Amino acid sequence: MAQEVRGVIAPGKDEPVRIETIVVPDPGPGEAVVRIQACGVCHTDLHYKQGGISDDFPFLLGHEAAGVVESVGDGVTDVEPGGFVILNWRAVCGKCRACLRGRPWYCFDTHNAKQKMTLTDGTELSPALGIGAFAEKTLVAAGQCTKVDPAVSAQVAGLLGCGVMAGIGAAINTGNVGRGDSVAVIGCGGVGDAAIAGSRLAGAAKIIAVDIDDRKLRTARSMGATHTVNSRETDPVEAIRELTGGFGADVVIEAVGRPETYQQAFYARDLAGTVVLVGVPTPEMKLELPLLDVFGRGGSLKSSWYGDCLPSRDFPMLIDLHLQGRLDLGAFVTETIQLDEVEKAFERMHQGDVLRSVVVL
Ligand code: APR
Ligand code: ZN
Ligand code: ZN
Repeated sequence: MAQEVRGVIAPGKDEPVRIETIVVPDPGPGEAVVRIQACGVCHTDLHYKQGGISDDFPFLLGHEAAGVVESVGDGVTDVEPGGFVILNWRAVCGKCRACLRGRPWYCFDTHNAKQKMTLTDGTELSPALGIGAFAEKTLVAAGQCTKVDPAVSAQVAGLLGCGVMAGIGAAINTGNVGRGDSVAVIGCGGVGDAAIAGSRLAGAAKIIAVDIDDRKLRTARSMGATHTVNSRETDPVEAIRELTGGFGADVVIEAVGRPETYQQAFYARDLAGTVVLVGVPTPEMKLELPLLDVFGRGGSLKSSWYGDCLPSRDFPMLIDLHLQGRLDLGAFVTETIQLDEVEKAFERMHQGDVLRSVVVL
């Protein structure tokens, strides 16, 4: 029997979001219905609402979520009803070239539920990132459910489903930050702060936070930054070089997504250092760099998609570290809100005064 639940939809380009009744089908083969307990508000939800990702309105928003599996369809063996899970948008297929080569964190054939959730009039919904978790329940592919220790609170766990994982992964997976490294992080929102927390976890000796907003720099320090630079007042490239004995940082993580900050990252790293781009640019942005500098400075220029995470490997590990007190995921939750406050949370996000608003259900 399909069930009816409440969910937050984006009805059309730039229209305010609203709560609607969502019809959630019973899980078919390979699918699971998850009772959502918490879901963070991410920039990507706002981009969906603004029509910046696709025109497939109406969207069922929300994708940084944790909850409890309610029911599973035929052939599902990895999760069972009652299991506490974080939802992911990289349900590895096991069959694509990346998977077969043993690099499932690059899987390009991730799957979602085959059946559609709908409005009561039958209108099909497009779930954000194949998840759609600003809802009491959602239907996903079972592979999108990653079991973690249920001792963690859902509002904290859900954050690993997207932005915080992207930031931590940019440091520990893509940037390969290690003990004793110097790291600079440009842009200290939720993603940049997670990169800072990830760098601390990995044993970085120096972590330089760069932002144009002093409020963000204060938070960055509490996340593990050892030095801060306000790049509105000080040239960040010079400042980072000065703080690293004139060399530049081993790893520079760009968590804004703009050509000028990418350029800063490029020049703020040591010779043979690594630049990680985790900020997401817009289609019209262009980058111009002297090719000789790209050649001459060596090293690697990488981008980090979802923190190059493998959910089955990374989510349980990071939750365990959090439960041991070694990674304060709770620090990313600025406020908890109700389902009907998502629109307000978008406004606060725009003003820059939250890391994460988390809807609790
Ligand atoms: N130089 C340095 N910092 C900047 C600059 C700049 N020119 N412009 C903006 N910032 C800072 C902001 O002050 C803010 O602290 O970058 C931070 C961006 O943070 P958020 O807006 O909270 O975004 P966040 O959720 O962290 O995501 C950052 O990663 O996943 C992507 O789509 C996401 O592109 C976005 C980026
Ligand atoms: Zn695959
Ligand atoms: Zn997200």
